[in-house]
Amino acid sequence: MRKRNGWLSSLKKKISQYKVLTIIAYIVHNYSEYIKLHYFFHSANNSARAKNTFDKKKELEKANIEFSLYQRFASFKNKRVLELGVGAYFLNPFYCLVKGAREFIGLDLWNCVREPENTILLQSASENLSLKEKEQCKRGFDFKKNKFLPQYFSYVNKDISDYVPKEKLDYIISYATFEHIYDIKKVASSCYSLLDKGGAVIAVVDNEDHGMFDKKRFSVYEYYTIKESCYKHMVALSGRPNRFTPLQYKKWFSDAGFDSVDIFAYKDVLHNPLSFKKYEDLQIVDFPTIERLLREKKKKFAKKYRVMSDEAFIASYFILVARKEKATLTHEAII
Ligand SMILES: C[S@@+](CC[C@H](N)C(=O)[O-])C[C@H]1O[C@@H](n2cnc3c(N)ncnc32)[C@H](O)[C@@H]1O
Repeated sequence: MRKRNGWLSSLKKKISQYKVLTIIAYIVHNYSEYIKLHYFFHSANNSARAKNTFDKKKELEKANIEFSLYQRFASFKNKRVLELGVGAYFLNPFYCLVKGAREFIGLDLWNCVREPENTILLQSASENLSLKEKEQCKRGFDFKKNKFLPQYFSYVNKDISDYVPKEKLDYIISYATFEHIYDIKKVASSCYSLLDKGGAVIAVVDNEDHGMFDKKRFSVYEYYTIKESCYKHMVALSGRPNRFTPLQYKKWFSDAGFDSVDIFAYKDVLHNPLSFKKYEDLQIVDFPTIERLLREKKKKFAKKYRVMSDEAFIASYFILVARKEKATLTHEAII
C-alpha cells in the first residue's frame, strides 16, 4: 500500500512539475499551436546540439562586433567596468584592457567559462596587438600564460543583485543576458546602485527567438504569438527569452532612477552592425510595413501579427543605454 502511495505521489509530483495536463489541454484546444510546439521542441534540441561546436573565427568576429557596439557609447580609459553575464569567454575584459580600463569584473550567475577555448581566444586576440599595446596591457595580462592578472580582472559567480563592489563602477556592459532575466525592475535598480555618478549601463538585448523554431517555417518573432499560458511552460523547461518589449525596459530603468534611458535598434547586428537607429526613429517598426514584409514571406503569419502592438516589432536586437547623470555642483557647494 505504501508502495502504491509512493508511486501515486511521485506521479502527482511529475504532473505538477511539468504541467503536462495544461499542455495537453492547450494542444487539444488549438491544433496550430500544437504544430508550433512540435517545431519548438524539435528546434530546441537542435540548438542544444549546435552549442557544443567551437568556431574560433566566428567567436572573435562576434566579440569584435560586440565590443565595437560598446565603444559607440563608452570610453573605457581608466574606467571600472563590470560585464553582467560574462559567459564562456573573456574577450570583453581583454578589449577593455587594450582601451585602458582600470579594472574589470566579469560577473555571471554560474561558472560557465569554457577552457581551453577561452585561452585560445585570448591568445588569438593578444597576437593581434602591436608591441606598444602589449606593453600597455602588461599591467593586466600575462602574455605567457594568456591569463589576466588579479589586480585587473576578477571573475565573480553571483547574481548581480547580490554583488557588492569595493568601489562604484563606471560601466555595466551586457550582451544577450537581459532577455533571460525576469525581474528587470530589480536588476535595473541593482545596476543603478552599483554605478557611480556619470556611469552607464550598455546592454545588448537579443529579442530573436533563440533557436526556438525552425527558421525555414517560422519567423524569428513567432514566439511572440504564443499565448502566455503556454509560453510560461516553454520558458520553464528551457530558459527562453522573456518577451519584454523595449518600452517596458525603458520604463523599468527610468523608474530605477536613471536620468536618461535610450533604446537603439538595428535590423540585424551581426550582419549589419552599422544600421543603428534610435528606437523612436525606427522606420522598420512601422506597422503596415512589417505587415507587408511578413505577408511577402508568410501570409498566414502576417495575419496573426496584426493582434500585436507596434513595440513588439523591434528589430531583432536592441541596445539599451541607461545613464546616471554626473554630479552637478549646487550653488551652496560652489560657495
Ligand atoms: C545567454 S548567456 C550570454 C553570455 C555572453 N554574454 C555571450 O554573449 O555569450 C547569459 C548569461 O547571463 C547570466 N545571467 C543571467 N542572469 C544573471 C544575473 N541576474 N546575474 C548574473 N548573471 C546572470 C547567465 O548565467 C548566462 O551565463
